[in-house]
Amino acid sequence: MSAHSSLIRIGDLDIDGIGRILGTAERFGEVMERDIKKVPTLRGRTVINLFLEPSTRTSTSFELAAKRLSADVVSIKGAGTSMDKGETLKDTIRTLEAYDPDVFVVRHPQVGACDVVARHTSAAVVNAGDGTGEHPTQALLDLYTVQREIAPIEGLHVAFVGDVLHSRVARSGISAFRMMGAKVTVVAPPTLVPRHLGEALGTEVSADIRDIADADVVYVLRMQLERMGTGGFVPSLEEYARMYQVNHSRLRAGQRVMHAGPVNRGVEISGKVVDDPSTLIEAQAGNGLVVRMAVLYDVLSESQTAAPGVPGVTLEAA
Ligand code: CP
Repeated sequence: MSAHSSLIRIGDLDIDGIGRILGTAERFGEVMERDIKKVPTLRGRTVINLFLEPSTRTSTSFELAAKRLSADVVSIKGAGTSMDKGETLKDTIRTLEAYDPDVFVVRHPQVGACDVVARHTSAAVVNAGDGTGEHPTQALLDLYTVQREIAPIEGLHVAFVGDVLHSRVARSGISAFRMMGAKVTVVAPPTLVPRHLGEALGTEVSADIRDIADADVVYVLRMQLERMGTGGFVPSLEEYARMYQVNHSRLRAGQRVMHAGPVNRGVEISGKVVDDPSTLIEAQAGNGLVVRMAVLYDVLSESQTAAPGVPGVTLEAA
């Protein structure tokens, strides 16, 4: 039903599409260095951010991204909507359709919620995280961060460490890094790795934390305690930390550490690593702004061939 392109899973993009968005983000990065950081690119467009699960980074950066692009933006968060009174997601979307939005940015606790939204709107739908499903804009900002801070992605070795089972960040990120030519290794207790992950995603899988030794990037995954129910995935958080915590004793010089946030200090990552200036966590959060500006621009572009700064796109200050 959508008249625009949507971004629901990282597989909606090919290598050219990812390259186009990262290139657009670079150009928006230049705009963000100006005194006036606002451009009229999406003037007259309406973006609805529908966040039905907690978020700090993604919700803030999408809202700011829409504002910096001069779009009209409405942000709706978990509690306080008519869904509290029993309105379904479908009926909520149909209601919001009355305001003729161009983009829905959706975070939802259920896998597949964005597909439901897309079935009931002609607006573009951007997945801002659906349960344990996907988080494609996180993957894009992670690629952007590695390209800017470390090196071209092709040939790099990225180790994802921790709770892959419940991680939409890992699901989108592993695919994205693989697509861009990185070698990916997963290091986790077997209880936190989906069955057949290695075959499905083309990664090596190890239960031994020492196997991060060869990685250029150590991508630490949050222990998603809210998705673990009564538990049983690990003997205890203390035991998990003893076996898998990424801390300085397990890192070698030159390795760069990433984490999508929020972090559980002292569980999957030590506080000292979080605070280490070489860790990329703050850069990831910061880069979310320009990457999400690029995504909003991309899903609303007619041709999806041009980056801002080339014909057809206005980059002068609003
Ligand atoms: N990384 C991430 O999605 O963070 P938030 O939950 O704060 O949006």
